Amino acid sequence: MESNLGEENQAGITRLQTNNEGVVIWLTGLSGSGKTTTGRILEKHFRELGSRVEFLDGDELRRTISSELGFSKEDRETHAKRVAFLSQLLSRNGVITIVALISPYRSFREYARNLGGNFVEVWVKCSLETCMKRDPKGLYKSASQGDIRNMTGIQAPYEPPINAEVIINTEEESPEKCAGMIVDFVSKNYFSIG
Ligand SMILES: Nc1ncnc2c1ncn2[C@@H]1O[C@H](COP(=O)(O)OP(=O)(O)OP(=O)(O)O)[C@@H](O)[C@H]1O
Ligand SMILES: [Mg+2]
Repeated sequence: MESNLGEENQAGITRLQTNNEGVVIWLTGLSGSGKTTTGRILEKHFRELGSRVEFLDGDELRRTISSELGFSKEDRETHAKRVAFLSQLLSRNGVITIVALISPYRSFREYARNLGGNFVEVWVKCSLETCMKRDPKGLYKSASQGDIRNMTGIQAPYEPPINAEVIINTEEESPEKCAGMIVDFVSKNYFSIG
C-alpha cells in the first residue's frame, strides 16, 4: 500500500522498497558449511531490530512437515518445494524468512525464487574438505563407512549457485562477519535502517 511506504516500525526500520513485503533469505550449501550457524545469528539480529522474523531450518522441518521423506532426489525436491512454499507465504506477509537448506540442485533454488517476492540466495561456501573435517553430526564419517547413502558431496551432487546475491566464505570469515555481509545486502536492497 502506497500509504505505508516510509512508515517506521518500533525499531526504526523504514520499509522503503518492500512495500511491506518481507524477504526470503535462502541459505544453501554443503552439510557443515555453516547455514544453521549463520541463520541463527541473522534471526537474532533481525529480532533485536524488532522485525518479524522466522527461521526455517532444514533439520527441524525434516523432523516435522517432512518426516516421511528420505534423501533421494525426488524426496529432496518435495522437501525443498514445501520449504519454498512456506517461505513465500511468510515473506509475502511481511516476515523476514531465513531458510537454511542444503538445497543441492539449482532447479530447487530456482523453483523457490520463481514463486515470487523478494528472494536473496546466499551461497554458504565452504570446501568439502573443510566440511568433512568439521563434521559436527558425524554424517560424513557415516557416509564414508557406507552407513548412509545419498550424502551430498559424497554420493550425491551439490550444484554451486551461479546467480547468488550473496556469497559468504565460512572458511575465511567468522560467523558474525558472514552474517553481517548478508545483513548489509538485505538492508541496502530492501530496508533502510533509520
Ligand atoms: N563462518 C564460520 N567460521 C567457522 N566455523 C563455522 C562458520 N560457520 C559455521 N561454522 C562451524 O561449522 C560447523 C557446521 O555448521 P552448521 O551446523 O551451521 O552447518 P550447516 O550448514 O547447518 O550443516 P547441515 O546442513 O548439516 O545442517 C559448526 O561446527 C560451526 O561452528
Ligand atoms: Mg544445519
